[in-house]
Amino acid sequence: MTPDRILSAEPEPDDLQAELSLRPKRLREYIGQQKVKANLEISIAAARKRSESLDHVLLFGPPGLGKTTLANIIANEMDANIRQTSGPALEKPGDLVAIVTNLELGDALFIDEIHRLPATVEEVLYSAMEDFYIDVVIGQGPSARTLKVEIPRFTLIGATTRAGLLTAPLRSRFGIVHRLDFYDVDSLSIIIRRSSEILSIPISNEAAMELARRSRGTPRIANRLLRRVRDFAEVRHQGTVSIEIAREALRMLEVDDYGLDEIDRKLLTTVIERFGGGPVGVSALASSIAEDRGTIEDLYEPYLIQIGFLQRTPRGRVASRLAYEHLGYPLSAARNQKDLF
Ligand code: ADE
Repeated sequence: MTPDRILSAEPEPDDLQAELSLRPKRLREYIGQQKVKANLEISIAAARKRSESLDHVLLFGPPGLGKTTLANIIANEMDANIRQTSGPALEKPGDLVAIVTNLELGDALFIDEIHRLPATVEEVLYSAMEDFYIDVVIGQGPSARTLKVEIPRFTLIGATTRAGLLTAPLRSRFGIVHRLDFYDVDSLSIIIRRSSEILSIPISNEAAMELARRSRGTPRIANRLLRRVRDFAEVRHQGTVSIEIAREALRMLEVDDYGLDEIDRKLLTTVIERFGGGPVGVSALASSIAEDRGTIEDLYEPYLIQIGFLQRTPRGRVASRLAYEHLGYPLSAARNQKDLF
């Protein structure tokens, strides 16, 4: 992936620092995702009332929508400590054992990218999640013994962009499962205004709406655009982000009206020009634009599907009328005009 892609939902190095100060700490400060919030509020209140630890939580959805933020909020609301790791970081069972044996009662353990846990580590997690013990193998060869070690009741919070890649036994051990959806423009503009206050960036409501519209439903992108537009405003103008400055900056950053960037346009153009609008299999599409299949499925497609530019069909991906119109192609260019949706 292009490393400095401004509309990437994956974190860029300077996002992580900026996000630390912008992240809401409590559920009441968290904007959007109303259904998830309402359900979590109830689960948390009920667990607290019973003085129990919260059931294990699985959060899934595209990157940049706030899974890590929510995990931290859940721990805060439970007055619990949180330990953070990720699927790829847990290379062998011992890595997980070292972490869970150091947990305290009620702690939260956050595993990001949990779909990338090695199978051997996942095995250990099953008994840890279900019965709060782990089997530790002591010694080697014929004299090796297994020791059953109890661990404190803890709450596992798993996050993944691909719930479909989770094994059934792992998925079934989560009592609370929530999907995060792309944010609507109003929620994003509230997030932008909240961030601009924290970062002391004067911005007009109109400009906040404009950034919101072009942030692909993703707070991480909204906050990144806000920072880039601020740079632009400070260098070129007096510092206040007006609608004119926002538009000019977005034009220079090559972010279009729908928040599409060069790679999105390349993907859609390829479907239209090389595959007659589709259907085209995702693997063929991936090799055509020299991207990896998973990156297309995780990062590019979800938003293009959400805004109705692309459709996932059993026979492959199909571009929509809207995509043809937006990119300036005549509908007559489509191989199967009757298939266009
Ligand atoms: N910053 C990033 N995501 C946010 C959200 N959902 N609510 C408030 N601030 C945010």
